[in-house]
Amino acid sequence: MAGRGRIWVIGIQSLGLAVATLAQGALPTASLIGTPAAAAPTAAALVAPRAAVVAGSCLAAIPAGSQCGGNETNPYMTCADFNSCQNTPWAGACCQAGAGCAQLQSDTCWTCGGGLPPFLQGLPESAPGNCTSMPNGDFDYGCVLGASMFFYQAQRSGRLPADNPVAWRGNSGLRDVAPNGNDLTGGWYDAGDTTRFTFPAAYTISTLALGYLAFPEGYQRSGQDVALKRNLKWGADWILKARFNSSSLVAVTWAPGATIPQAHLFWGHPEDIVGPAATRALPPGRPGADLLAQAAAALAATAVIFKDDSVDYAGELISVAEGLYAQAKDQEGLYSDSVPEVKGYYTSFSFVDDLAWAASWLAVATGDQYTREEARLYWQRHISDEGGGEGRRFDYNNLQQGVGYLMSLLYPEKKDQYLQPIRSVMELWLNERSNITFSPKGMAYIDSWGNLRYVANQAFMALLYNRAYKADRSRRALVYSCFARKQLRYMLGESGQSYVVGVGSSPVCRPHHRAASCGPLGSRCDCSALRNPGCNPNTLYGALVGGPGPKDDFNDARNNYQQNEVALDWNAGFSGVLAGLASGSVSSWEDCKSGGLTSGRGSTSGAGGAAARGAKGWAAPLLAAAAAAAAGGLLVS
Ligand SMILES: *[C@@H]1O[C@H](CO)[C@@H](O)[C@H](O)[C@H]1NC(C)=O
Ligand SMILES: *[C@@H]1O[C@H](CO)[C@@H](O)[C@H](O)[C@H]1NC(C)=O
Ligand SMILES: *[C@@H]1O[C@H](CO)[C@@H](O)[C@H](O)[C@H]1NC(C)=O
Ligand SMILES: *[C@@H]1O[C@H](CO)[C@@H](O)[C@H](O)[C@H]1NC(C)=O
Repeated sequence: MAGRGRIWVIGIQSLGLAVATLAQGALPTASLIGTPAAAAPTAAALVAPRAAVVAGSCLAAIPAGSQCGGNETNPYMTCADFNSCQNTPWAGACCQAGAGCAQLQSDTCWTCGGGLPPFLQGLPESAPGNCTSMPNGDFDYGCVLGASMFFYQAQRSGRLPADNPVAWRGNSGLRDVAPNGNDLTGGWYDAGDTTRFTFPAAYTISTLALGYLAFPEGYQRSGQDVALKRNLKWGADWILKARFNSSSLVAVTWAPGATIPQAHLFWGHPEDIVGPAATRALPPGRPGADLLAQAAAALAATAVIFKDDSVDYAGELISVAEGLYAQAKDQEGLYSDSVPEVKGYYTSFSFVDDLAWAASWLAVATGDQYTREEARLYWQRHISDEGGGEGRRFDYNNLQQGVGYLMSLLYPEKKDQYLQPIRSVMELWLNERSNITFSPKGMAYIDSWGNLRYVANQAFMALLYNRAYKADRSRRALVYSCFARKQLRYMLGESGQSYVVGVGSSPVCRPHHRAASCGPLGSRCDCSALRNPGCNPNTLYGALVGGPGPKDDFNDARNNYQQNEVALDWNAGFSGVLAGLASGSVSSWEDCKSGGLTSGRGSTSGAGGAAARGAKGWAAPLLAAAAAAAAGGLLVS
């Protein structure tokens, strides 16, 4: 299923629909921020303007049924949750009574005062350039990798460092606390909104780390290794905070408002939200092995990357990761059954692959033989219990191919066995008889929602395979790398339109992203920014958007969230494949040309360079092998 789901629609459809849907029993029991805990509010109560609003604030009429709560005012948020430094209704927000900027905290005041804070002044935005200028006509993938690192910097929540390169982002969420009152500031906003989901954020961290583990030269040669490490640390430090005591883990946070769909009604600068975020943690003892294991994997993976830089930091990460992993083993089951608020956004469907992911990352981090053996046992159990249905792609719900790569490092003598899942899935993608199709201009197509995220992830897997087998002069490894190169060329605009913001040829410019759609910090931003027909005023460099449909059909519109939103996890595999292409250690585009593989498809067997189309029948034996593998026959020795 496509991650962010159905409920998302509510955020940009009419409030009337939202209320109708909520009234059908979807309302969680959360209390409205700023009101005493009470029974779930009725639809009528939700539509009515909030009563106890302070002077000079947002009691403007709020017509029911209008997007963003009427005249750019969100009825679900109280004035105490916001400030604007002007006594006018503003950005779905309100002013605090009598509070001019001078009376507000210095770290929030400036967002409404109009000027940049001193720590942002004079810092040029690190605009990565358009990355189109390689002498051989290829894209400059190292440059794009820099842009992808910028995307993660633009997603930051919390108190930003003094060298924040994103001139249009400032401090936000500074009052966020965990259920026990501990500091919960920091982390990343998930997508174009102001939620933080621990599950995909943890996956993002471990997948970014996997890209560095496999292709460190890609980061080093493009001068992005420090940026990668700082991004990893930014994410991991928030996971440490989300682990607020030894039996709990925050699963999701959202801007003030009773529910996530209500929080989505806000359109404006994340910096304008002053009230503490709502949070939900996995309740102690409840099923959630998937979430706990993903968090463990994220911390262990970060430790792997930092072990030569800081023994102390790596040790802290491993210690917390081991606690999470131990708890995961005890709390088998799906976290989305225990934290129902995430359903429809990041529902989980399996947990043994997550346990294998955590165990294998911990084994890589520590070298511990017992953990390595546990990883092997979880792998076998994953293949027999979960191996069949979800093997068509790599993402936070389907870790099989990535676990296989880690296992091939832990058990090098069984490389062939553990890399079989990548072979099986690649053969499915490359086989013209499968229902994974190719668009007229050559894009692989598997899903209508965020298709390019799956394509980028599979291209990353293809390059991991190339990494493992290139030295063997494997034909298959070459074919896979040419698939990856062709798909990345497509994303960057080979055929005229780049689906990566700010880079490549004629890039998309209206990604569905609140902060990027707003003007400079301190400017008024509201739903008119969502409706603005022009390009976003702020460039979200490096963000991969969902991308076109099966006929290369694409609409660069801000409310086209299926094709034009962005997300943390979408850029994670993408960064890995960019690191691979920038590393100099995978087969080159010249190799693809001389192999007759510039279509990105081709036979993986034999010496010939036959292009894929027309090479009928070649994949039949491999498909049979893939089916057997999916049934658990091939992969377990
Ligand atoms: C919204 O506010 C603007 C500016 O005050 C006003 O001109 C406009 O008529 C309002 N729209 C609605 C639907 O109330
Ligand atoms: C992008 O780079 C190409 C090649 O250097 C150049 O011709 C083009 O003008 C650049 N476009 C922009 C918008 O900077
Ligand atoms: C951790 O916090 C949760 C929620 O506040 C609480 O239920 C639990 O008892 C705490 N556990 C420990 C070990 O302090
Ligand atoms: C494609 O095939 C897979 C596996 O058989 C199936 O689960 C999926 O629903 C199919 N998709 C479409 C669009 O037919």
